[in-house]
Amino acid sequence: MAKYLYEKHGPDAEAPVAGKSLVELGAGVGVPGMAAHVLGAKVLLTEQAHVIDLIQWNTKTHFAGEGLEASELDWYEADGDIGTFDFILACDCIYEPLYGESWKALLKQMVVLSHEGTRVFVSAEERTNDGVAKFLEAASETFEYETVHSAGKVSVYEMRRR
Ligand SMILES: C[S@@+](CC[C@H](N)C(=O)[O-])C[C@H]1O[C@@H](n2cnc3c(N)ncnc32)[C@H](O)[C@@H]1O
Repeated sequence: MAKYLYEKHGPDAEAPVAGKSLVELGAGVGVPGMAAHVLGAKVLLTEQAHVIDLIQWNTKTHFAGEGLEASELDWYEADGDIGTFDFILACDCIYEPLYGESWKALLKQMVVLSHEGTRVFVSAEERTNDGVAKFLEAASETFEYETVHSAGKVSVYEMRRR
């Protein structure tokens, strides 16, 4: 995802991420969001409570200054009070054997956090019973989507509101 962002939304791209707001959901260590920050986006990395301390340490240690923040956001509990974003990222967050049907709550966050022009990027690895097709089918009620990048079993989908 970080490579994709650099190539398609980097400094020389038609739609650069620089100056845009971006939220990463289920960020883990937050590499794609951090890459977007380096490219000039105003970034919020979000995660569940038990992971957020690590991300906050990571961002404060490696990125002094403004434009990169981390905060707790559980897909089941968030109430949409943080506004909308120009870009939304969710990488490897859909995998039913591990996370059940939490993709439904994830999708709800994508709807709540997006505006008409938001570009949502979801990356997912093709695995047995992963639930990705179900996510995409449910997402298509609100978003148009296309596969914008594939590498082996990993695909990046771009979704935009209908
Ligand atoms: C496989 S990891 C991917 C992490 C990172 N995006 C990456 O690509 O390395 C899935 C992430 O989703 C997060 N996650 C799972 N359920 C969540 C929920 N209900 N709310 C917020 N984050 C959640 C987990 O904490 C985990 O970091």
